[in-house]
Amino acid sequence: MKFSEAQAIATEHATSDYYVNSYRDMERMYLPALLEAVESRSPTRILEVGPGWGTTAVWLADEGHDVTVMDLMPLGTWMTQELIDTYGIKYVHNDIEDAVAPDGIDLGTFDLVIMTQVIPHLAWKPDRALRHVADLMSDDGEFITSVLDLLDYKDLDAAFGDDWTGVPEWKSTDRCQDIVKCMYTSETFSELLESVFDTIEIWKPKRSTVLFARATKRAAQ
Ligand SMILES: C[S@@+](CC[C@H](N)C(=O)[O-])C[C@H]1O[C@@H](n2cnc3c(N)ncnc32)[C@H](O)[C@@H]1O
Repeated sequence: MKFSEAQAIATEHATSDYYVNSYRDMERMYLPALLEAVESRSPTRILEVGPGWGTTAVWLADEGHDVTVMDLMPLGTWMTQELIDTYGIKYVHNDIEDAVAPDGIDLGTFDLVIMTQVIPHLAWKPDRALRHVADLMSDDGEFITSVLDLLDYKDLDAAFGDDWTGVPEWKSTDRCQDIVKCMYTSETFSELLESVFDTIEIWKPKRSTVLFARATKRAAQ
């Protein structure tokens, strides 16, 4: 399936005009680079944290992967029941900052965890969410993630700038999921990931304002 076909399916199932009026264009800037990074993989067990309207998840399922998505918001907020049923996607309602999975549920581990454009919403100790991601990875699993490049948003007043260590604890201040507060330079993105993962590689797709990273799980010590 081409990226544009996955977007057409997400559009058909979109729960709000925001996807069609704005978010779809945003996705076009970086999701093709993500799909390129995973397209040669044989079918495997993949977790996508924060799937939004489901463009990536639909594409992965169509490629034959066993896809689980996890989102802070209940099913129906962004992805619909019909969409996940059609593509055989499993939906887990869970806040990755809180826990690896809802109480009493063992999700097992995944060979690939994808979490694009979610860290910018984690204005609350992003390293805790990343530690939960690592716990969901198999020993030789891979993590692919992305953030907004601070250097492309100099005019925006990013409340915490690129200092992820200055991000407050969750519940110590008001939560505002919709406002992007944390942005990173490639150095601070690397520093954040190094606090949890090994072998970090950062790249920036052409004409995008997004930094991507792939990382592996740190061996148990
Ligand atoms: C900006 S959208 C990103 C959608 C898609 N991954 C992309 O790259 O375009 C952020 C997604 O992350 C989810 N999200 C935000 N914070 C989360 C958290 N703490 N745990 C799980 N999902 C979260 C949102 O509900 C939404 O689906």
